[in-house]
Amino acid sequence: MDWSVSELTEREVYKLLVNTVLPRPIALVTSLDAKGGINAAPFSFFNVFSHAPPLVVLGIEGRAGDPDEPMGLKDTLNNIRSTGEFVVNLVDRAMLPAMNACAVDHAPGVDELALAGLEAVPSRAVAPPRIAASPVQFECRETVTLAVGRRQRMLVLGEIIHIWVRDGATNERLHVDIDALDLVGRLHGADWYVSLRERFQSPRK
Ligand SMILES: Cc1cc2nc3c(=O)[nH]c(=O)nc-3n(C[C@H](O)[C@H](O)[C@H](O)COP(=O)(O)O)c2cc1C
Repeated sequence: MDWSVSELTEREVYKLLVNTVLPRPIALVTSLDAKGGINAAPFSFFNVFSHAPPLVVLGIEGRAGDPDEPMGLKDTLNNIRSTGEFVVNLVDRAMLPAMNACAVDHAPGVDELALAGLEAVPSRAVAPPRIAASPVQFECRETVTLAVGRRQRMLVLGEIIHIWVRDGATNERLHVDIDALDLVGRLHGADWYVSLRERFQSPRK
């Protein structure tokens, strides 16, 4: 089967993309609003795109609402735009229920971390806190935010300025024990995830 994207609805394109680009890593992003209130929300339109400089990208869409009204912005985007800082907290299997609790569309100013039972701990280089339970955290500074598309789709580029990896998961040569991280990826459909327990090698000749 093949399709011209111009003949598909946005929803249909979404289905074909999120059910084929698999698995996608999950960034549980913590940010602060202008009053210092903590916000947390997961994003799987996320990846790392460069190591020098170390860059992450988040794809944040507008807040769903009345289809006839202009879309509002998600709290994460408002916060990054107003403070220029955020933390990417990667998600392990044990954190999944709490991550889902953070995805509920709460009013601005609601501390999703507290509601989800996740402990916030201070970051080293940015103001937004990290999530203690997360196996890997990247403290980031917004580099640029691009508006793409008609429906408030924004791409946030952030430079990683501080890296945390769970104690005991790295050795002195910076080899990472990925079993000790137990990261999960987002799969197809509404609620499917994958863990990294099944792996194989394919050597480069
Ligand atoms: C696993 C998962 C991945 C998600 N990925 C995205 C994403 O890439 N982009 C997006 O705009 N929303 C994504 N969402 C939805 C947001 O997390 C949700 O809209 C959240 O309420 C936004 O919160 P905020 O307004 O506090 O920023 C995802 C939700 C889940 C559960």
